[in-house]
Amino acid sequence: MQDSKIFIVGANGQLGTALRKKYPKAKHADIDELDITNKKSVQNYSWQGIEYIINAAAYTDVDGAETAQGRVLAYQVNATAVAYLSEAANSIGAVLVHVSTDYVFDGTQKNHTEEESLSPISVYGASKVAGDIACSLAKKHYIIRTSWVIGEGKNFVRTMLELGQKGISPTVVSDQIGRLTFTSELVKAIDFLLTKNKDYGLYNLTNSGPSVSWADITREIYNIANVNQKVANISTQKYYQGKTGIAPRPLSSTLNLDKIHSAGFKSIDWRHELKNYLNKE
Ligand SMILES: NC(=O)c1ccc[n+]([C@@H]2O[C@H](COP(=O)([O-])OP(=O)(O)OC[C@H]3O[C@@H](n4cnc5c(N)ncnc54)[C@H](OP(=O)(O)O)[C@@H]3O)[C@@H](O)[C@H]2O)c1
Repeated sequence: MQDSKIFIVGANGQLGTALRKKYPKAKHADIDELDITNKKSVQNYSWQGIEYIINAAAYTDVDGAETAQGRVLAYQVNATAVAYLSEAANSIGAVLVHVSTDYVFDGTQKNHTEEESLSPISVYGASKVAGDIACSLAKKHYIIRTSWVIGEGKNFVRTMLELGQKGISPTVVSDQIGRLTFTSELVKAIDFLLTKNKDYGLYNLTNSGPSVSWADITREIYNIANVNQKVANISTQKYYQGKTGIAPRPLSSTLNLDKIHSAGFKSIDWRHELKNYLNKE
């Protein structure tokens, strides 16, 4: 697979940045060069020579999507724009790679397989559901469903590390359960599916390892980084009590990895990748 046949959309986000590192010769654009919500811009873009469109663009502000303005933007970027990209991919015979989320579920199932019915409880989740369906309009497509993404930029691991290093003992949600997904793992899985010509369709992808809470992850961060701070548990309900404009979150976010493992993909435990990540900080 030649990098020059790849086009990365939403190239400045967490995943987009990691993809650009993996494929340095890939063409790419973020919103300034290609606003994917603009139908004409997507239709008229110079897609010549592109065989793989990887969509790393998204409206990811989960609480922002609950506002009147955010709701419109979330559907524009996460749903309608994906239909434009599917159309563009079909017009040039390209493969469309798109990224989905555990937020398409209500989180009542402990372990989400690719077969589970969609049941979003937030506007962001509903907009991503619509995007998954829009992506399936592409004749050749991969939908990678992931959760709790950690890459470059502001993220949970960095926030907790900074708090701990400042001497703050944080109170962290302990009833949302899942696994981290480092962008390195997402990039590895995308490359695996594309280079090995795996069957098109939907694949769950997170790092492997135990499913734990955000509070447990914080303890692991402090353990690895030798930060001597206690982490107090709190329920999601108590954490958000009295705050307005907060989107409901699924309590169980664990994605079942059997399908991608059966295809031959080898996962890395999130605890191992967390060590690598913190060593680079
Ligand atoms: N982050 C998570 O925990 C998580 C969990 C599950 C699934 N996912 C999914 O994983 C994917 C990658 O997420 P991420 O964390 O890398 O997201 P991110 O860091 O928020 O990056 C998204 C990128 O898309 C760009 N973008 C927004 N609107 C656009 C538009 N109209 N046209 C072109 N680009 C636009 C953003 O630009 P601006 O910054 O300028 O707006 C940003 O650079 C998304 O599909 C997301 O839904 C993420």
